[in-house]
Amino acid sequence: MQIGPYTIAPNVVLAPMAGVTDKPFRQLCKRLGAGLAASEMTISDPRFWTTRKSIHRMDHAGEPAPISVQIAGTEPAQLAEAARYNVDHGAQIIDINMGCPAKKVCNAWAGSALMRDEALVARILQAVVAAVDVPVTLKIRTGWCAQVRNAPAIARIAQDSGIKALAIHGRTRDQHYIGTAEYDTIAAIKAMLDIPVLANGDVDSPRKAEQVLKHTGADAVMVGRAAQGRPWIFREIAHYLATGQELPPPSLTEVRGILLGHLTDLHAFYGEQQGVRIARKHLAGMPGTARRTRPSARWSTPPRPPMHSCA
Ligand SMILES: Cc1cc2nc3c(=O)[nH]c(=O)nc-3n(C[C@H](O)[C@H](O)[C@H](O)COP(=O)(O)O)c2cc1C
Repeated sequence: MQIGPYTIAPNVVLAPMAGVTDKPFRQLCKRLGAGLAASEMTISDPRFWTTRKSIHRMDHAGEPAPISVQIAGTEPAQLAEAARYNVDHGAQIIDINMGCPAKKVCNAWAGSALMRDEALVARILQAVVAAVDVPVTLKIRTGWCAQVRNAPAIARIAQDSGIKALAIHGRTRDQHYIGTAEYDTIAAIKAMLDIPVLANGDVDSPRKAEQVLKHTGADAVMVGRAAQGRPWIFREIAHYLATGQELPPPSLTEVRGILLGHLTDLHAFYGEQQGVRIARKHLAGMPGTARRTRPSARWSTPPRPPMHSCA
């Protein structure tokens, strides 16, 4: 898959997840086969750029290219400024968040709520594309609700505005994470666009990735929740797509090495105290570690709605 000057290979990418896809996790997923790993969303309001959380989210030192940074907001000029700021701080791809279902992202109707206002979507996309000379990508849901499944209209606006790739989560905004993702809308959008399309939602195994790619004709699959506690899923999917063969699961010795390496990276990135707290949510799901929830409960549907905080 090509995003501007960047060849994304393999075509299996990590979904942006606030509170999860921090730099240590992105680096881990890329080492284990993700072709691309977008950052957690960063708020477009400059008043928040100096908070500890934002400083961590905007730290891309040492990350392998291409560095994709997601921004969230509602004001075209502010998003354009945020895009410029992030490019100045290392972003090589800017991704715009219109996929987050939280009622209010950062106290504004950002994220997937923006999909209700197609004219505003056009203004935002045009402003951001004009503001930076790196590729701009967009992440959306299939629509606002079952009755307003307007992702195809947004997709057309995106392509016409110069967006270089479009990721679509196969749920509407009002579904949050309930039910199952549908892929027909993604297939319809792929059929009408020239830009690359990434299919997202409930991809949790190599076979599922293959099915979704076949059904949608998408250029890549995007994996979110299934990567948490199983970051090697990227190489498993990539291997299966390339060979039709399933890789054996990693040995406990390898899992131990991955786990300890991730722990060390988290401590180095956040410091001892915060690192321990953040490590708990990443490591609790890995094989061989104690868990509070059954593995099936943990990975099939999240135990609670995700927390989205942007500052
Ligand atoms: C904890 C969590 C945080 C998320 N944060 C973001 C975000 O910041 N930006 C975004 O576009 N989507 C966000 N999402 C949505 C994911 O990117 C993805 O679209 C969704 O989880 C569906 O993919 P999956 O079934 O592979 O998990 C988040 C999801 C979760 C579970």
